[in-house]
Amino acid sequence: MKIGFIGGGKMAEAIIVSLLKENITEPENIIVSDISTERLSFLEKELKLTTIQDNKILVEKSDIIFFSIKPQVLATVLEELNGKISEDKLVFSIIAGKKLKAFEDSLPGVAVVRVMPNLPCQVGEGMSAFCLGKHATEKHKHTAETLLATFGKFLQLTEDKFDVETALAGSGPAFFAYIMNCFALGAEKYGLSTEEARLLSCQTMLGTAKVLIEKGYDPIEFITAVTSPKGTTEAGRKVLENSGIEKILADTIKAATERGVELSK
Ligand SMILES: NC(=O)c1ccc[n+]([C@@H]2O[C@H](COP(=O)([O-])OP(=O)(O)OC[C@H]3O[C@@H](n4cnc5c(N)ncnc54)[C@H](OP(=O)(O)O)[C@@H]3O)[C@@H](O)[C@H]2O)c1
Repeated sequence: MKIGFIGGGKMAEAIIVSLLKENITEPENIIVSDISTERLSFLEKELKLTTIQDNKILVEKSDIIFFSIKPQVLATVLEELNGKISEDKLVFSIIAGKKLKAFEDSLPGVAVVRVMPNLPCQVGEGMSAFCLGKHATEKHKHTAETLLATFGKFLQLTEDKFDVETALAGSGPAFFAYIMNCFALGAEKYGLSTEEARLLSCQTMLGTAKVLIEKGYDPIEFITAVTSPKGTTEAGRKVLENSGIEKILADTIKAATERGVELSK
């Protein structure tokens, strides 16, 4: 089974590294095409992959084809590949905002899976959503789940939920990093070095997320359980919860979702 990537950028590299790390495939079964020769040399050298500059040859040689280019070049690439992708291939798109229809209109009869991964897939802690195109079967779904599991957690969603999913999980790493940094800056004022404050803040965020997921706690029950009457958590929570942050964070998701809707038009 040959897996081809059209576009060998950051996301393609993160996915490829995960596939290799989890022994889903071998470097000789992965082909990457890119317009950047620099990128191709890097991938050849670092990951021992086969690379080519011609997208048409890539699709001919691949059984599974990932579209991992930027949204603005998709139309040109689909035009270039017109009639070149046969119905026995499976197409994955990780392109933000590009709907299944864009692929299905250009690639009649071809099974397409739309995936929205996020950047933490670089460390195997990605959160991906996927939805299946009209020609995708249970077998294709199984293939998608096997590949996505290599770089984190995944969730099947209907395509109408992709804009909000992209806001929360796609843009989310920037939002969570912002919050992490705000807490660290606050702690620096009380004597911690930047390095100490960032580690404390990041690891606390990571550990909290892990405990919520692995123990299946309801966040509100968890918050109540870790708050002792008149203690430090209660003092901090009073400031946090009276600040209007709930609305601010909800508005953050609203703005990102609405922007996603605009961009995907
Ligand atoms: N980064 C994220 O957090 C994230 C999360 C989810 C989804 N995505 C999606 O993943 C996709 C890739 O993102 P990325 O961050 O990996 O982008 P990237 O690093 O810019 O990678 C895209 C690569 O495609 C190359 N390319 C441009 N035109 C091409 C063509 N006609 N044929 C083949 N290759 C071509 C680019 O070369 P040049 O640089 O020379 O143009 C670049 O090396 C995007 O559609 C994005 O929406 C990204």
